[in-house]
Amino acid sequence: MKKLNFILLIMILIFALFTGCSSKGNQEQPADNNTSQETKEENKEKDKKLVMYTNAEFAPFEYFEGEKVVGVDADIAQEIAKDLGKEVVIEHIDFDSLIPALVTGKADFVAAGMTITPEREEEVDFSIPYVESVQNIISKKEAELKTMDDLKGKKIGVQLGTTGDLAVTDAINLDDGDLYNTGAEVKTYASALEAALDLMTGRIDAVVIDKLPAEEIVKNNADNLVTVKFGEISEAYGIAVEQGNTELLESINKTLQRLLDEGKIEEFISNHSN
Ligand code: ARG
Repeated sequence: MKKLNFILLIMILIFALFTGCSSKGNQEQPADNNTSQETKEENKEKDKKLVMYTNAEFAPFEYFEGEKVVGVDADIAQEIAKDLGKEVVIEHIDFDSLIPALVTGKADFVAAGMTITPEREEEVDFSIPYVESVQNIISKKEAELKTMDDLKGKKIGVQLGTTGDLAVTDAINLDDGDLYNTGAEVKTYASALEAALDLMTGRIDAVVIDKLPAEEIVKNNADNLVTVKFGEISEAYGIAVEQGNTELLESINKTLQRLLDEGKIEEFISNHSN
């Protein structure tokens, strides 16, 4: 009997100890309440914002109008945000930093006339395609660079990390590449506009960049520059999200499909083309 009492006593003690601990834990919480309330408010604010990253040196898809980033992708982003009842915030960075910004969670999505490629798909998830493109060559009128063959031995400017960069680098470096062992060189720039400036001053012979942006650059320098198709490979642009962010991706796809059905993307392109 005594033994039983003793065991009972121990059990009561253990019980008291546990409830004591937990009630102590509860007492500590009110002290945190303020800050958790604040973070909740902050999160609510954050929830209303949709952060898009881009590289705004790629008209008509994204370019600066004063301090503001505008263009086809910005218009699409407004529609995505509208459909979600949110407000879009657009940040401009270097093109080759866009995927890292998604992977590290800084951006909700990237809309940058970005071509869907198998390599990029290993790091991010892409929306349905919304624009088709090819690469173009920009050169000086008098140089008469019309085909890939004419690029042999030439200095070619590209925007770092783009599919144009990859296409030219491969053509030069791969032993079955069109420009292999021809003395052709690739020069990388932060933007195609910077490359075009070097083209104008004769530091390079050509720039390879997507068709519509190439045409925009040429329109603005119509006396000096021309542009022709670089290759046959057709590319499709997609909006990128962090891998596994299916909720956002689904609503982006819905908005894109609606815009495609309504012919809006074509409209945005012509609105932003000179
Ligand atoms: N479509 C090309 C690519 O994905 C070029 C995109 C450049 N976009 C930009 N916003 N600068 O590599």
